[in-house]
Amino acid sequence: MAHKFQFFVLFFFCIFILKAQTSKQIIPGEIWNDNTGTHINAHGGGVLYHKGVYYWYGEHKIAGKIGNTAQVGVGCYSSRDLYKWKNEGIALKVDETNPESDIAKGCILERPKVIYNTKTKKFVMWFHLELKDKGYDAARSGVAFSDSPTGPFVFLQSFRPNTGFWPENVQPFHKKPVADWVKPHYCGGKGCLPAHVDSVNILGRDFKGGQMARDMNLFVDDDGTAYHIYSSEENSTTHISKLTDDYLSYSGQYFRVFPGRYMEGATLFKRKGKYYFIASDCTGWAPNAARSAVAEEIFGEWTELGNPAEGKDSELTFHSQSTFVLKVEGKKDSYIFLGDRWTPDNPIDGRYIWLPIKFENDAPKLYWQDHWSL
Ligand code: DGJ
Repeated sequence: MAHKFQFFVLFFFCIFILKAQTSKQIIPGEIWNDNTGTHINAHGGGVLYHKGVYYWYGEHKIAGKIGNTAQVGVGCYSSRDLYKWKNEGIALKVDETNPESDIAKGCILERPKVIYNTKTKKFVMWFHLELKDKGYDAARSGVAFSDSPTGPFVFLQSFRPNTGFWPENVQPFHKKPVADWVKPHYCGGKGCLPAHVDSVNILGRDFKGGQMARDMNLFVDDDGTAYHIYSSEENSTTHISKLTDDYLSYSGQYFRVFPGRYMEGATLFKRKGKYYFIASDCTGWAPNAARSAVAEEIFGEWTELGNPAEGKDSELTFHSQSTFVLKVEGKKDSYIFLGDRWTPDNPIDGRYIWLPIKFENDAPKLYWQDHWSL
């Protein structure tokens, strides 16, 4: 009898340990449930660390192809350990009442990121915005703010970056008249421009109306200066723009980087005084080989380091696309690659590919792991 009892105690103890261990694991590509037992719905997301808590913001998708447009808004989840996530609800809602609103229900609202401004004490959200029923032509940035990390965020404005400003590294040919045939159109893939971007001068075309901004990220440097990093010039070229001190607008100072390299999903982070960049190629929702680069100064010179992914499926970045790089607080030299495995036919089912970044000769590397812990 006593033996039987000991056996049951041991059995339940093992189950308990096993359960505790699985809840302390990151399992890329699996369903990740929140505290309510529902698959986390925060795609194209980014994470803010504030006062001991991680806040994960992302696109709240719904089922079916309509879910590729914004029907709900930006979701927020909180966690203290990066394993267990509490659903904090919708931080920024689309406008359901005013079809004229920039963020009217049915617009395209992608890749939201939030940073905290220590001077104004506001949480500031930026996102890529496409106006309802206009495809991807608007190529705008949207800005919202809140007093609380979980929202509600108040929509402030949407606009194109740096209207009437040339980048610091403008070339003489950018200031020449632009050919009539350089018309704006959605460029969803690599090589969609008829010639190299520098010969068609998209930058000059958009000088007066503002530069295009699609896939995007935010980065706050050690001195509190914030930057917006985004695919511009029909996705052909990345721009890095310094924001105003309140983080609500552009300062007018910006640089073009990687001209003609067609990058999307840009992420930027700092390690040991150097700036690192991980992004994707430009192939719509389909995965491709990631890119990486390093620079001593945020505005460059940037040196490309190639695809950080290694091994099987590395040419597809393990079927994912970069969305953010998260520095783990309190853990030395710990950075996590955050990627999306998109499912555009049923976007709500999109999965998250989070992998630890290893550094080999100071170059970021990604290796597939079925499961891992910090
Ligand atoms: C790839 C981008 O990275 C996504 O954010 C989204 O804009 C899709 N393209 C649309 O095709």
